Amino acid sequence: MNILLTGGAGYIGSHTALALMARGHQLVLVDNFSNSQPEVLKRLSNLSQGMPGSFDFHQLDICDAKALAAVFAAKAAAGQHFDAVIHFAGLKAVGESAREPLKYYQHNVAGTVTLLNVMQQYQVNCLVFSSSATVYGDPQSLPLTEQSPTGPQSVYGRSKFMVEHILADYCAANAAFSAVVLRYFNPVGAHPSGQLGEDPQGIPNNLLPFISQVAVGRREALTVFGNDYPTPDGTGVRDYIHVLDLADGHVRALEQLCNQAGQHLFNLGTGQGYSVLEMVEAFRQVSGHPIPLHFAPRRPGDVSACYADAGKARQQLGWQAQLNLTDMVSDTWRWQQQNPQGYRTANQAVGTAVEENADV
Ligand code: NAD
Ligand code: UD1
Repeated sequence: MNILLTGGAGYIGSHTALALMARGHQLVLVDNFSNSQPEVLKRLSNLSQGMPGSFDFHQLDICDAKALAAVFAAKAAAGQHFDAVIHFAGLKAVGESAREPLKYYQHNVAGTVTLLNVMQQYQVNCLVFSSSATVYGDPQSLPLTEQSPTGPQSVYGRSKFMVEHILADYCAANAAFSAVVLRYFNPVGAHPSGQLGEDPQGIPNNLLPFISQVAVGRREALTVFGNDYPTPDGTGVRDYIHVLDLADGHVRALEQLCNQAGQHLFNLGTGQGYSVLEMVEAFRQVSGHPIPLHFAPRRPGDVSACYADAGKARQQLGWQAQLNLTDMVSDTWRWQQQNPQGYRTANQAVGTAVEENADV
């Protein structure tokens, strides 16, 4: 298939691109590098050597309708068309979304509408969308099925939820359109080569990148947000899923559902929850490094526990997470050790450190 990946240079996009090329798909990646580095493309080129699929890249912002349309027009000029779009591009920092809501609605919501307009213009009728378990808000009961009540608690979460509604409305109006909404739980891990991984800019918001930066000596100690939750050890419980399993979920969803009109909604999680302290212990064991930590009050907006019922994806897509906690932690650790400053060189990282200190 010919597939456009928005946000293709990002964490989940880059791993999914590799999985798609391994299956022989021809890709065009677009990204504005607002949260990624051009170095990713070199790594993808190296890793995809010998694979049946290949990729092209265009640096653009999805809010720029003209630039986006030019990519579709170039495909048409070559006598081809996109069979599908996987839409990863978006902003994802919950705290920032509260401070800059318009920026989030612009990139995540208006950006998606711009993309859909261009797709409509070129009659591309399949979109796979990166949604999030955050749309469920504070769960009333666990595990979460696709039918569980929703109620996102942040601007970021609401931006994802709005797009889900927009896609449902667009499917209702366009009988040929297929929208696959994938609600990710907590993506972690890295490519086993150590060449691709998650590269947060500044201070990581998410748990595993923070722990791995402590283990590698980039940060002094982990702050554990809350030890008074109604969970076995008092710390928050989440459904961590290896990014390779997530990538495989995209491949299956795309290959099976793109020709089936309507909206298709799936949780992508393992169904298994781990606490913050269990994650710390797993990382300590795999890395052999101590992970100093201290407890602090709960982080605003955090829920006590969140994990998926992954049954629908298993039954309908034949997809199930294959990789376990040790795989997630050891692949994260390999990536962190091989790339202590992520995709940046030591010089670029000095600049980042100055910015981080200025922030504090
Ligand atoms: P990421 O930041 O690594 O990747 C997103 C990519 O999109 C980045 O490369 C960024 O530069 C690009 N981008 C952002 N805005 C853009 C724009 N306007 N135009 C063009 N490119 C743009 O994030 P990720 O972790 O790979 O997440 C991918 C998607 O999955 C996002 O939509 C995110 O909200 C969603 N998601 C992520 C998680 C997670 O924990 N990582 C969980 C649930 C959902
Ligand atoms: C967060 C976002 C969520 C987003 C998800 C994936 C918030 C409130 N929620 O979810 O919207 O979809 O990331 O990007 O930000 N923790 C610590 N110390 C840290 C970091 C995290 O103790 O330095 C704890 C958290 O309190 C939580 C667990 O670790 O219990 C996981 O946190 P995180 O990785 O940020 O994911 P979520 O909270 O699930």
